[in-house]
Amino acid sequence: MRKTKRVGRYHLLERIAYGGMAEIFRGFTYEDEQFRRDVAIKKLLPHFVEDKQFIDMLTDEFKLVSHLKHPNIAEVYELARIDGELLIVMEYVDGKDLRSTVEKARLQGVPLALDDIAFVMARALDGLHHAHVARDARGEPLRIVHRDFSPSNVLVAYDGTVKICDFGIAKATHSRVQTKTGIIKGKVKYMSPEQAFGRKLDWRSDIFSAGSVLYELATGAAPFQAANEVDLIFAVRDAAPRPAREVNPAIPPRLAAIIEKAMARSRSARFQTAKDFRDALIEFIREHNPAYRRTRLARFMKRVWAVEIENELRALENVVLDEAPRRDYGQNLIADALGPDAAFSRFSPNPTRSTGRQTEVGADVHEARTELVEPRVSRTSSGRTASERHGARRTLPLHAPAELHDEKTLVVPPRER
Ligand SMILES: Nc1ncnc2c1ncn2[C@@H]1O[C@H](COP(=O)(O)OP(=O)(O)OP(=O)(O)O)[C@@H](O)[C@H]1O
Ligand SMILES: [Mg+2]
Repeated sequence: MRKTKRVGRYHLLERIAYGGMAEIFRGFTYEDEQFRRDVAIKKLLPHFVEDKQFIDMLTDEFKLVSHLKHPNIAEVYELARIDGELLIVMEYVDGKDLRSTVEKARLQGVPLALDDIAFVMARALDGLHHAHVARDARGEPLRIVHRDFSPSNVLVAYDGTVKICDFGIAKATHSRVQTKTGIIKGKVKYMSPEQAFGRKLDWRSDIFSAGSVLYELATGAAPFQAANEVDLIFAVRDAAPRPAREVNPAIPPRLAAIIEKAMARSRSARFQTAKDFRDALIEFIREHNPAYRRTRLARFMKRVWAVEIENELRALENVVLDEAPRRDYGQNLIADALGPDAAFSRFSPNPTRSTGRQTEVGADVHEARTELVEPRVSRTSSGRTASERHGARRTLPLHAPAELHDEKTLVVPPRER
């Protein structure tokens, strides 16, 4: 048995990743009295936390991003300052990022099929489009550009759901870490040419980046390659990759044309919206494999990550809650932008007697442990669950069976939320 480490409203489980900016943990909290909510927590490294200008910029960006509510975008719950640390708390996607998935699949000799690739990209583009056209409460366009659309920021759940993460981070980081060229090191691979020139960006930069990701997935090779970062910047600026069909002749001409259009050097020659790009991919799937279902992707994920799924489930079963009666929930720096009904305000580290900020801890621990494995659903006389009454989305048990999707749901965003 392993005790969770508690930070504010959250129980931390294992570290998922460690990067140049943050450590990422899997964690969970409780919503209402019955439902566990899984979260991913990015704990910023100390030198970022000490940089007031950066934190201000990040806060501003996250206030914009907090307007994004879409099935293909990982929701941000908190930018929390607690115990001298800064945490980005977001929806946990029970799966793996696209970069690791592609690598793992290649090692296993079962690369992602072209229709699966088109499907993942179509879903990610749905999320991008939502961000590009998002407006604030007064109807003003937010003009959100992701700026770092890459395979590691596309998360694919084991049930075949696709979500983009890390909106708002690239812009804040850009204001802080600039090299002589005005470009952040290690971030060039999927940049648009205008980004590699350090020019002002609009949403069509993300369209180019999505084209680069699609190129790499379909051909198995990065569109731009060079021996060093400076040459790579020049290659991206030129935007003249080897034609995709030359690298992989199995790519149908229609898909190659989509890639080429998305990656046009001139913004006006690209798809003008992420939705147009996505529609072209859906048409491609229809032609290429009319019987395509999301369950294909779910089965692929479950096959490729079988060992990890088993281990992750086992790890969850062996966890007990840290019951320390601490009530310090810190400060959510984006609370005002999220509004009074924000999901985080319902989060509590203990499943019993959760009344928002005033949670008593330690009363019904045995129940809590049971809930951790399989959240209990209590139905009221109206037949609705507590969380449904509050308009909250039910936390699904891990690895809920993937729903069968018909052709209609292929083109319409999933029905949740
Ligand atoms: N919301 C989430 N749910 C589940 N896993 C996540 C989530 N966010 C991130 N991860 C995992 O953590 C990994 C590291 O994320 P992080 O954003 O720190 O680095 P990166 O995506 O590899 O690089 P960058 O975002 O700087 O391009 C991701 O690749 C993904 O596997
Ligand atoms: Mg990331």
